[in-house]
Amino acid sequence: MGLNVKATRARCSTVFFLSQSRSVYPNPSDKSEGSAPPTVIKIKRRHIMITRADSLSNGSSCRRIFLTLLSFTSTMPASKFIKLNTGAEMPTLGLGTWRSKPGQVEHAVEFALRNGYRNIDTATAYGNESEVGKGIKNSGVPREEIFLTTKLNNPDMGKPEEALEYSLKTLGTDYLDLWLMHWPAPMTPEGGADKSIDWLDTWHKMEALYKAHPEKIKAIGVSNFSIPYLNRLLDNSSVVPATNQIELHPSCPQQSLVDFCASKGIAVTGYSPLGSEGAPLLKNEVVKKMAQKYGVGEGTVLISMQANREGVNVLPKSVTNERILANAKIIDMEPADITELNEIAKTQPFRACHPSWAGWGNLGFTESV
Ligand SMILES: NC(=O)c1ccc[n+]([C@@H]2O[C@H](COP(=O)([O-])OP(=O)(O)OC[C@H]3O[C@@H](n4cnc5c(N)ncnc54)[C@H](OP(=O)(O)O)[C@@H]3O)[C@@H](O)[C@H]2O)c1
Repeated sequence: MGLNVKATRARCSTVFFLSQSRSVYPNPSDKSEGSAPPTVIKIKRRHIMITRADSLSNGSSCRRIFLTLLSFTSTMPASKFIKLNTGAEMPTLGLGTWRSKPGQVEHAVEFALRNGYRNIDTATAYGNESEVGKGIKNSGVPREEIFLTTKLNNPDMGKPEEALEYSLKTLGTDYLDLWLMHWPAPMTPEGGADKSIDWLDTWHKMEALYKAHPEKIKAIGVSNFSIPYLNRLLDNSSVVPATNQIELHPSCPQQSLVDFCASKGIAVTGYSPLGSEGAPLLKNEVVKKMAQKYGVGEGTVLISMQANREGVNVLPKSVTNERILANAKIIDMEPADITELNEIAKTQPFRACHPSWAGWGNLGFTESV
């Protein structure tokens, strides 16, 4: 007997209706027994709220209910949107376009948009903004229904205004939903570190452009920022970045960075969810086990586990029709399974994009991955 738990799922919360029995309320004089309406306990991700605390006044009963709840493995509802600190909603699923070649990416963007994607991620560094823009136009989806992100290229960090105009023109759009500093690592056009530029000065220029041109830039953010770099930015700036786009997958979970961003009101976008080129994580045994458990493909597990993290959205990349469709399936997962997946990092850590590539050292990333 004990608790009779029926779960119904809302989009972002799970509501448990509890009806009590004698074993939960052992005191027969407890008036709440049998006559009170069901107590409603709302679980919003990690927060538990009891709305009829009076009917749970018996200490041992409370303890039993909480112990039962703690041992109850609820699923984590994946969100459809994450809310940015600007108030904008950014779709949880986006299409990545790194290494999506001209000739392929235009079709991929059009196909994704025709099939429900509403979030497209590109960058000047990818050399495909023109094709991404054509794909958007060919899709017929109105621009205002699409969340479009591009990124300031490392060699352009001395001239962000010019770079912004280039991106707008090349994408064929009047505005960006999100403009990111791609790396806190100014570089020369030849590809070395450009030590004459401080990324913080570049951020201040991005802030000024954002404030002066709300019609061109809806939000600004960063990418590949570690906690020390974010601290420096937050201590010396007036705009809190809307997002930090970072590598996230079971071999690189970066939980402390995700938690830090949440504490500062910065949403997190996870890149390389499949492990990047060739999707190596699809072959991982733990990922395969989870795919079997949920009856879905391995890609769905890897993409969904990010979508189930609070304040996190995710960018799988593909130029293949059937994969673009498959990657759009997102499921709710049990927290314990996400924890088990993230433990892969303990034995098989890796980064697809190591911060040291830009010639500025580890950019404040101190974890092994
Ligand atoms: N801010 C940054 O510094 C940064 C860095 C890296 C990535 N990103 C962004 O994040 C996006 C995603 O990351 P990513 O491109 O590194 O890697 P990813 O999305 O983890 O993996 C892409 C690879 O997986 C393959 N693939 C996709 N779906 C698949 C499926 N269902 N089954 C089997 N294979 C599948 C793709 O092949 P096909 O395309 O051939 O189908 C491609 O080879 C990027 O495209 C980019 O937009 C940002």
